[in-house]
Amino acid sequence: MSLPIQQAEWGKRKFMPSRPQRRGFLVASFCAGFLMLAITVAYAADDHNPYAGDAKAAKAGEFEFRINCALCHGLGAHGGGRGPDLTRTQKKHAHSDAELFQVISNGIPGTVMPANGTNGQGVGMTDEEIWQIIAYIRSIEVKAPANPVGNAAHGKELFYGDANCSLCHMIEGKGGRVGPELTGVGGSRTRASLIDSVRNPSRRLAWGLTESTKEFPQEYETITVVTADGKQIKGVALNEDNFSVQIVDTNEQIHLLEKDKLRSFQKSRESIMPQYNADILSDKDLDDIVAYLTSVGTK
Ligand code: HEC
Ligand code: HEC
Repeated sequence: MSLPIQQAEWGKRKFMPSRPQRRGFLVASFCAGFLMLAITVAYAADDHNPYAGDAKAAKAGEFEFRINCALCHGLGAHGGGRGPDLTRTQKKHAHSDAELFQVISNGIPGTVMPANGTNGQGVGMTDEEIWQIIAYIRSIEVKAPANPVGNAAHGKELFYGDANCSLCHMIEGKGGRVGPELTGVGGSRTRASLIDSVRNPSRRLAWGLTESTKEFPQEYETITVVTADGKQIKGVALNEDNFSVQIVDTNEQIHLLEKDKLRSFQKSRESIMPQYNADILSDKDLDDIVAYLTSVGTK
């Protein structure tokens, strides 16, 4: 069939394509769609950062990082109170450039690491900007020190023994529930901020209850109530709504209370965690405990 005849036939049918032609069209658009998908997937899965080793792109990435990431990961990506040090070569979730791209785009479910373009992470970034941030992170990575500080085995003994941490904290399923679970904390926080949490617990309260309606989880505030019969209960909230509150006290007792039946209800930003000064817990012992938290949190 030559082209002019085909055109003539088209004309006769008032541009209504025949069945096989329509099918042809569907197949063609399907193929085009599939090709586009294949290109997108190939691009996203591309292990190669188009800006690898590009100092100008890394500079642009640093700027993006300050706006979108420094709030949690600190200036210079050295880690802050809410996000890990990203200058460590040894990362927990992401090793290749493609994995970094995936973590930064989609966040890390079950942690506060947000997905690109969601509440916690500023404005949405383009793929190009994400690759620039990765170029920046790569440019500031440093090898871990050969001899990490502290003795993790001794730190574990202290955690479950003399230092009493396990009365309130659980690690890998073992310990108390008054304070936050600490299995992952060594991987998501810096050494300096962990030390600060132990020396000055009230300075920056840990995040507790996660509520989907809130941009950030609620903090671990201390709750003190006096019940109708005059009993005082002090602990942290496991659950709370307008009408009731569920409190776990320092003896691991759980109390479910109706707020309007209480004589008083108070929240305080004074942590229920005791302040461990150097005379109670030496710097060396604290280094050992932090080494233990880091060894569990980064494995
Ligand atoms: C709201 C706080 C927050 C913000 C904002 C945030 N992060 Fe994170 N990020 C975290 C936390 C917390 C983790 C660790 C999660 C865990 O393992 O518990 C994390 C983990 C990561 C990891 C994985 C580290 C590893 O060891 O594998 C990368 C990479 C990362 N973030 C990059 C970024 C970049 C890039 C941005 C900005 C575009 C960003 N983050 C913004 C909190 C944040
Ligand atoms: C009486 C209970 C109690 C004891 C004992 C206790 N803690 Fe805590 N801890 C808490 C509570 C409650 C919080 C949350 C409020 C805050 O941040 O201070 C907390 C917070 C923390 C945090 C911050 C966690 C985060 O997610 O940011 C770290 C780290 C920590 N504790 C480590 C320790 C270590 C190490 C010990 C032992 C040396 C210890 N705690 C002993 C109750 C306790």
